[in-house]
Amino acid sequence: MIITLTGDEKRIRSLRQDDLDILREWDSDPELQQLTGRKFDADEEMTGWWTAVERDRSRLAVAIVDNEGRLIGDIELENVSWRAREAELRIAIGDKTYWNRGFGTEALTEMANVASEQLGLKSLYLRVSEKNVRAIHSYRKVGFRKVGRLSATGRLQGRQNLVLMRLNLVSSSQGVSDRATNEGLVSTAR
Ligand SMILES: CC(C)(COP(=O)(O)OP(=O)(O)OC[C@H]1O[C@@H](n2cnc3c(N)ncnc32)[C@H](O)[C@@H]1OP(=O)(O)O)[C@@H](O)C(=O)NCCC(=O)NCCS
Repeated sequence: MIITLTGDEKRIRSLRQDDLDILREWDSDPELQQLTGRKFDADEEMTGWWTAVERDRSRLAVAIVDNEGRLIGDIELENVSWRAREAELRIAIGDKTYWNRGFGTEALTEMANVASEQLGLKSLYLRVSEKNVRAIHSYRKVGFRKVGRLSATGRLQGRQNLVLMRLNLVSSSQGVSDRATNEGLVSTAR
């Protein structure tokens, strides 16, 4: 699902097809693979991933940008449940020169606001290795709290000691997700 951002976000913007080559470059980095799992697995071509992001209402991706608007990473919402109003979040700053400079925390804060105010979601959750201290620190600053431990499945298959973290969102309005769809704030290519 491609989302048209309607706020004054500075750290995230809609993902574009011409971002894909850089995402693929980062996706083949072993250190990032270890931390986030692969985005484009062996059976899925990059164009297939993009088509799914465009069409699948349970999936959403945005770009993270620096102060000059240059792509430095991305955030995905996966397993979006419009009924339960929750989604799983995944973030990766692919350009490592931007790690530890506050960009991740800013992007997460903006994504949480969009999820709450524009999409009408009530909570976000994520899975992270307990060894990924930088990520956990950043998640905690945004308000995520550890709620449990998990066995690794899907793209995180084989990882050890995963923790589940959840962020409860406070929305200033009700029924936003229905309105967002009706008013074309979110779109699918169907
Ligand atoms: C995780 C990620 C999104 C965080 O974004 P970021 O911009 O690097 O993080 P921020 O600078 O906003 O915040 C990181 C915080 O962790 C702290 N930190 C970093 N390493 C740390 C360590 N070893 N121990 C304790 N704190 C640490 C930093 O000091 C900073 O906190 P502060 O601002 O209070 O000083 C980014 O680093 C990233 O994409 N990493 C690679 C992929 C990844 O790990 N994704 C998450 C998978 S679940």
